[in-house]
Amino acid sequence: MSYENLLIETKDGVAVVTVNRPDKLNALNGRTVDELESSFAALGSDPGVRGVILTGAGEKAFVAGADIAELSAQGPTEARQMARKGQAVLARIERLGKPVVAAINGFALGGGCELALACHVRIAAEGARLGTPEVKLGLMCGYGGTQRLPRLVGRGRALEMLLTGEMLDAQEAFRIGLVNRVVPKDKLLVEAQALLGKMLANGPLSLRYTLEAVAAGLEMPLEEAQNLEATLFGVLSSTEDMKEGTKAFLEKRPPQFKGQ
Ligand code: COA
Repeated sequence: MSYENLLIETKDGVAVVTVNRPDKLNALNGRTVDELESSFAALGSDPGVRGVILTGAGEKAFVAGADIAELSAQGPTEARQMARKGQAVLARIERLGKPVVAAINGFALGGGCELALACHVRIAAEGARLGTPEVKLGLMCGYGGTQRLPRLVGRGRALEMLLTGEMLDAQEAFRIGLVNRVVPKDKLLVEAQALLGKMLANGPLSLRYTLEAVAAGLEMPLEEAQNLEATLFGVLSSTEDMKEGTKAFLEKRPPQFKGQ
């Protein structure tokens, strides 16, 4: 399938999804959001794809936010619908069942920062800048940012970002835990591949259920979340991969996981 505003390249089980509107700093217009929805739906159900890297085209931006030209023309009903749609797309990414790494190659602002927050880990290039400047436009986050940001960096730091709308540089984003690591710009994709590669060497079902336990469990009371964890742990103990993983350890050899 080909897309107007996305490039997708899959190699060795890893899909690299590039938001591709560099002349608009990869801003998310409605079409791009629709394409993220259909592409991630396809990537989620494609057994040949085991992990995803999400990045932006060009030298300057990961994604510089929702498309302000479109926002400016919207009334309240459309704006609410747009927010609900974007939230659903980001939830699909978060609940993909396969690891998604954001490779932040430049500005990750507003909806772009929220998009990065929906990914499971974030790697930033030196020089990247992250922020939620919606308040400077008389708006606020609408793609889950008011919820994911405080869950990731804590309420105080999140509120500072959300209320000032100021950008953080990559090092500051790293310091507060907004990104997992900062790497030289020319190494960004290689580092993202390497990190994803370490994850993909593990059992695919282990990854899927760990992602599920964290995403679903964090929204539950502790006891319920631990119950979910125990259930998924139990399910894994019935899999061929678990038998292979434990056997391989005892036989002092690398495991051959099949995702079964
Ligand atoms: N929506 C629509 N277009 C955007 C955009 C956005 N979120 N962000 C950048 N663009 C467009 C600019 O309008 C410009 O288009 P033009 O060349 O047709 O005029 C182009 O991308 C390049 O951006 P420009 O502002 O000229 O680059 P810059 O290097 O001077 O500044 C930023 C970079 C990121 C600081 C600046 O573009 C910016 O503040 N963008 C908006 C960020 C934002 O508020 N995001 C949240 C939206 S809810």
